[in-house]
Amino acid sequence: MKVTVVGAGNVGATCADVLAQKGVVNEIVLLDIKENYAEGKALDMWEASPVNYFDTRVIGSTNDYSKTAGSDVVVITSGIPRKPGMSRDDLIATNAKIVKMVTEQVIEHSPEAVIVIVSNPLDVMTYAAFLTAKKSRNKVFGMAGVLDTARYRSFLALELDCSPKDIQAVLMGGHGDTMVPLPRYTTVGGIPVTELVSEERINEIVERTKKGGGEIVNLLGTSAWYAPGASAAQMVEAIVKDQKRIFPVCTMLDGEYGMQNIALGVPVKLGKNGIEQVLELKLNKDEMALLEDSAVAVRGVMKTLEDMNLF
Ligand code: NAI
Ligand code: 2OP
Repeated sequence: MKVTVVGAGNVGATCADVLAQKGVVNEIVLLDIKENYAEGKALDMWEASPVNYFDTRVIGSTNDYSKTAGSDVVVITSGIPRKPGMSRDDLIATNAKIVKMVTEQVIEHSPEAVIVIVSNPLDVMTYAAFLTAKKSRNKVFGMAGVLDTARYRSFLALELDCSPKDIQAVLMGGHGDTMVPLPRYTTVGGIPVTELVSEERINEIVERTKKGGGEIVNLLGTSAWYAPGASAAQMVEAIVKDQKRIFPVCTMLDGEYGMQNIALGVPVKLGKNGIEQVLELKLNKDEMALLEDSAVAVRGVMKTLEDMNLF
């Protein structure tokens, strides 16, 4: 199995490193536009192989897509991250052009690849990649829900002083402040979270989750990478190992939740064919209203993309 990660910056390099250390695939190609940057990072990772006991080949490439040919999965992280005071949506003018150009190259060299978008603003970049790739929606989708749910689960684990492994949750909507964590679908070792944590504290944790990306930007001056890189790697692993994992993933909706022509985070089954099933939860009125608000916010950013006349 061969995986390409485009963008050898913080998130891309972390994703490649997690995949290598877990021995998920035989070969990883890390590609970046900056001269020798991906080569340097790939060599550094490979030099760790005797210490960390993995044999995944990690290869770097400066914008040479012939090295990515025949990839089974391609993760696209190229683009600029946000700085304090910026929202994810402020990145669109730069990142839409990068995502379009990169997707074209990826498709030319790996026409069968499953493509996982990470670049922000995530939902609209997923939509842009979908329009560019002209592949079925099950092969082009975005990573955000795995990260946002991980943040929510990690905060609940702190609250309950328990293992994050025992917290199961789902979160829907766009990758922004309108995302929709769903306490009604959150359990701790099988116990509904509502039986263990007060409504007031759950609400505070939900609010912290929604602003989780910004919390890291304020601390670091740039956006997060350990949790995002690991989250993208977890999706790659589910695909290449055909694990049929249930994750929240940003996908083009085709009537699910009453929506169409929009990429939004919903629970799906991930396996060797990419998205193998979109799961439709029976949301209550309040949850559905929050999802609709999130869709309105994403459509606002889609309008900016439309105004760029790239498609
Ligand atoms: P970074 O700046 O560390 O890395 C981005 C890399 O992309 C740079 O090395 C840059 O040279 C490269 N690049 C730019 N244009 C390129 C092109 N045309 N071809 C190939 N490479 C190109 O940024 P970081 O922190 O890795 O973030 C990457 C993106 O991921 C950002 O848009 C960020 O907002 C997004 N992100 C998304 C998350 C999510 O949950 N979906 C979570 C965290 C970050
Ligand atoms: C994050 O949520 C900025 O999307 C990035 O960390």
